[in-house]
Amino acid sequence: KSVADLGDLTGKRVLIRCDFNVPLDADKNITDDGRIKAALPTLTALRDAGARIVIMAHLGRPKGEANPKYSLAPVANRLGELLGVDVKLATDVVGDSAKATVASLEAGDVALLENVRYEPAEESKDEAARAELAAKYAAFGDVFVSDGFGVVHRKQASVYDVAKLLPNAAGFLVAKEVGVLKQLTENPERPYVVVLGGAKVADKLSVIDNLLKVADTLVIGGGMLFTFLKAEGRNIGGSLLDESNLETCRNYLAEAKAAGKTILLPVDVRVADGMDFDAREAKGEVEVVSVDDIPESKMGLDIGPETEKLFADAIKGAKTVFWNGPMGVFEIPAFAQGTAAVAQALTEVDGLSVVGGGDSAAAVRVLGHADDEFGHISTGGGASLEFLEGKELPGIAVLEESK
Ligand code: 3PG
Repeated sequence: KSVADLGDLTGKRVLIRCDFNVPLDADKNITDDGRIKAALPTLTALRDAGARIVIMAHLGRPKGEANPKYSLAPVANRLGELLGVDVKLATDVVGDSAKATVASLEAGDVALLENVRYEPAEESKDEAARAELAAKYAAFGDVFVSDGFGVVHRKQASVYDVAKLLPNAAGFLVAKEVGVLKQLTENPERPYVVVLGGAKVADKLSVIDNLLKVADTLVIGGGMLFTFLKAEGRNIGGSLLDESNLETCRNYLAEAKAAGKTILLPVDVRVADGMDFDAREAKGEVEVVSVDDIPESKMGLDIGPETEKLFADAIKGAKTVFWNGPMGVFEIPAFAQGTAAVAQALTEVDGLSVVGGGDSAAAVRVLGHADDEFGHISTGGGASLEFLEGKELPGIAVLEESK
């Protein structure tokens, strides 16, 4: 169901789940407000319809305790600026402040409850505890709108359980994200190239599994590329290695070969003695070496220039591209070039290019790209990957069930 199916919303309290889990710097400045901007179409439509809006959202992982470090205050300010209204931030989630704030709303007003993850039951595995909290949320709304695409893979009280208690609909963001991702899973125009990066192989195993069935080429960069290089029998020096998944990577390489698919790995990498992440610096000299000659004492921290060309050609030759995960430690300027090259190549795709959430979405913006240079920038990191894995997403399934 869409927001329009909820009928006349004039004066009605609309409880809405958004994903405002945005990156903050040490001074609590939001460094990428993409997720807040992505919520504006639904919020604006609800305000125009005369609804009284109550937003639920989380920030970080405060693990069931109120903690000012994870307050949604910076989000309330930024959202207020973008909407041009005063967003009333409750100082708790379902307590007296939340109740008073919701009660004070008039048509078109916007309230934001404090971080739902301050409540221990929000992420609990205990269904009864979650249901009890969800009932408290539900008391704040006449209808529920699910628009936090980045959290629909979480079976949590504000995402899943609350949807069972109120008439509900998907917001515009959730509808749009699901529409685009379906184009990737159901009938992608070919060649379909998927670029995966990021540090951990373990996070990407199930998606690789599924993508080997659907995609034509899998391009591998990021910290996880070294486990693949090792699986091919190469020496990776002091680079990141996930020993426990070496065999799995070996199997993927064999499986791809047997299925006539390509797993494209780097031919050269940028190495250094290490890195000082806080100082945003490489340790020692940065060198470009072939993947056949990674020195024993060096650590690979980005793909190299030959690889940039190789990957860019594969990307530009595709009709459909999905990219998730940086190619190197892009936060350090000396290791940002691989990610920059992939981002640039995606802007030149003659077809559908999708940037999958989290770090990659933040990276393209930090690198100076505008959102409209890509077909779609997903707000979901884990959520978009789980969608591509073919998994059922609880926050979507619950909307379908109650249709
Ligand atoms: C995200 O940042 O991917 C979403 O907000 C979900 O956050 P989580 O991984 O802490 O559940």
